[in-house]
Amino acid sequence: MSAPRLRTAILISGRGSNMASLIAAAKSPDFPAEIVLVLSNRPDAPGLASAKAQGFATAAVDHKIYAGREAFDASLQAMLEAHRIDFICLAGFMRLLTAGFTQAWQGRMINIHPALMPSYKGLHTHERALADGVKIHGCTVHYVVPDMDAGPIIAQAAVPVLDDDTPETLGARVLAQEHVIYPLALKLAASGLLHINGQRVLGAAPQALPALIVPHPH
Ligand code: GAR
Repeated sequence: MSAPRLRTAILISGRGSNMASLIAAAKSPDFPAEIVLVLSNRPDAPGLASAKAQGFATAAVDHKIYAGREAFDASLQAMLEAHRIDFICLAGFMRLLTAGFTQAWQGRMINIHPALMPSYKGLHTHERALADGVKIHGCTVHYVVPDMDAGPIIAQAAVPVLDDDTPETLGARVLAQEHVIYPLALKLAASGLLHINGQRVLGAAPQALPALIVPHPH
């Protein structure tokens, strides 16, 4: 008999395009994670309405009504327990979580960040990459640790930066790859095959791939 699928919550704050990519992947019955809850800190998040319309259980834990981060995270925790959640995917969830909450979920909570970590932690990653003149930018899925946009890296995708890029065009190129690596990383993490060794995540069956060189030498 195959292992039970991990009961997974997706936490969002906005549009939910990464949420949609995770939902699509988890539709397959042999995917090792099952999406059982979509939760937002913003009751009006478009992604929340979309998940609800698709028949998923949804919850809003509005950060504005809590006195502080501890109280907000306690409410989050209660909601996750009520839905017997095993695993969390942060997908455009724009609230910092307390160290206590993060530690309680260590190894069971992953995040997608729109940059090649450890570069460009925080906000406005595409603007900052363009300002620095980097030729290669990208996105990262990582286990969540108390430090923001840090933690063992599960998957990354790199994209070229083009001469006429704006933050919007570059962001769209990165986002397309986010939608590829997030389902892949969830599959790997939920399959139980990954080993966290310090900052490194091992066991993701590496394949020999050509280098991404920008500009292309040929
Ligand atoms: C994504 O680009 C995600 O990487 C980013 O927010 C966007 C959410 O879009 N996350 C962060 O910046 C977290 N620090 P989505 O709602 O369409 O998935």
